[in-house]
Amino acid sequence: PGGDLADRIAACTRVVPDFPTAGVSFQDLGPVYADATLVRDTAAAMHRAFQGRFDSVLALEARGFPLGAVVAQRAGTPLVLARKPGKLPGTVDSVQYGLEYGSDRLETQSGALTPGAHVLVVDDVLATGGTLEAAARLVERSGARVSGLATVLELTALGGREKLAAHEVFAARHVT
Ligand code: PRP
Repeated sequence: PGGDLADRIAACTRVVPDFPTAGVSFQDLGPVYADATLVRDTAAAMHRAFQGRFDSVLALEARGFPLGAVVAQRAGTPLVLARKPGKLPGTVDSVQYGLEYGSDRLETQSGALTPGAHVLVVDDVLATGGTLEAAARLVERSGARVSGLATVLELTALGGREKLAAHEVFAARHVT
């Protein structure tokens, strides 16, 4: 591969102005996911950052799924999916979190996260931190512990890390 991981992610990130709404610059990581070596190396960096300290991976819908799956495969741990509301059958654990306008929920199937498990949460982007903060609450509600939070990209200017001060955060690339 060669090259610094953050630089390689930067080269594969398309910034789309005014998407999904006016004033928002969308960070499109499609080309990252299209690069098998880059996905593998990003997952390896996430694994390395928390090596030996997690025994489960919680991947967040939607773009956390493919990366979380690779991290779980590398580490040989179970993969649990955190879904948007109404997708999972049976009893679910659910947490609410605020969006710029309104709110959303993340859900896991009850029992999918084992009490006492050490969970690495994986997503694509850390923006305001609302999503990862909610995911951390979901882990703790299950009686499991958050080992860490891992993302491809962190948008540092939005201050999301302050919301996540209780947790160790790894981002493969930082953007101001
Ligand atoms: C995006 C992104 C993160 C979240 C980060 O997901 O994939 O999950 O926003 O934002 P935050 O730090 O401000 O919470 P989105 O809500 O677009 O959902 P999707 O991945 O299902 O499209």
